[in-house]
Amino acid sequence: MAEGTVVVVGGTQGLGLEVARHYAAEGREVVLSGRDPARAKAVAAEVGGKARGIGLDLAEPAQLADRLAGIDQVAYLVLAAIERDENRVRAFDVPTATRLTTLKIVGNTEAVHVLAPRMDADGSVVLFGGRAKDRPYPGSTMVSAVNGGITGLVSSLAVELAPIRCNAIHPGIVGDSPYWSAKGEAALAPVRDRTPTRRLTTMQDVVGAVVFLLENRSVNGVNLHVDGGWLLL
Ligand SMILES: NC(=O)c1ccc[n+]([C@@H]2O[C@H](COP(=O)([O-])OP(=O)(O)OC[C@H]3O[C@@H](n4cnc5c(N)ncnc54)[C@H](OP(=O)(O)O)[C@@H]3O)[C@@H](O)[C@H]2O)c1
Repeated sequence: MAEGTVVVVGGTQGLGLEVARHYAAEGREVVLSGRDPARAKAVAAEVGGKARGIGLDLAEPAQLADRLAGIDQVAYLVLAAIERDENRVRAFDVPTATRLTTLKIVGNTEAVHVLAPRMDADGSVVLFGGRAKDRPYPGSTMVSAVNGGITGLVSSLAVELAPIRCNAIHPGIVGDSPYWSAKGEAALAPVRDRTPTRRLTTMQDVVGAVVFLLENRSVNGVNLHVDGGWLLL
């Protein structure tokens, strides 16, 4: 395993938090972030172990060098943040679309730019896209667009960062994640029915896949779909 800290951007809840919990339970130094430093610190205290919390806003990329200054050697970088805009093209909201696009494409890339010099050859990066890139849901217009953009970013970063590896995970609907579980069974049942495994992807399924992408030293430039085969039906 690579030496150094596991950095989880977007680690205060949902999938990022579960990744942070995994590595903290393994005794690793973990830095998790959210927009509000007080919330991030409180979540890190709840995670325990050697976790600490910091505040940063990926939609304000110019601030990232300063916000990430207190992190030394980085083993793994997980970019799990999202600020969903629930946008539709016929009622398009430019400010929220601009924030999401900046966050997922420019902000994620700037975080890699800032931290890559602190990673050695065994280090790796995992970006979060999502299957909304292929199967949109109502309001996912910009989510679908930026998750598609992650695919291209992975190809470029895997080449530019070499020998550091870069991969992306594209989950389907993660049924027990805060965003989707709040929508309830009416939203989730059709997804389960349309999935060959007849079950929804879980947060622990995603954690297992992220750990695989981060740690397997021959996996590079991969866009991994973790969705139970949802797009096959
Ligand atoms: N959940 C799913 O079913 C699913 C499916 C496919 C793909 N994904 C992808 O998986 C990733 C995690 O999704 P999730 O559902 O677990 O997310 P989530 O529960 O909505 O959590 C989002 C995280 O991003 C942080 N965040 C929000 N805005 C930010 C900003 N401007 N700058 C920095 N951090 C910010 C939040 O922290 P604060 O609120 O503390 O600021 C929080 O930690 C996302 O990239 C999403 O696209 C999720």
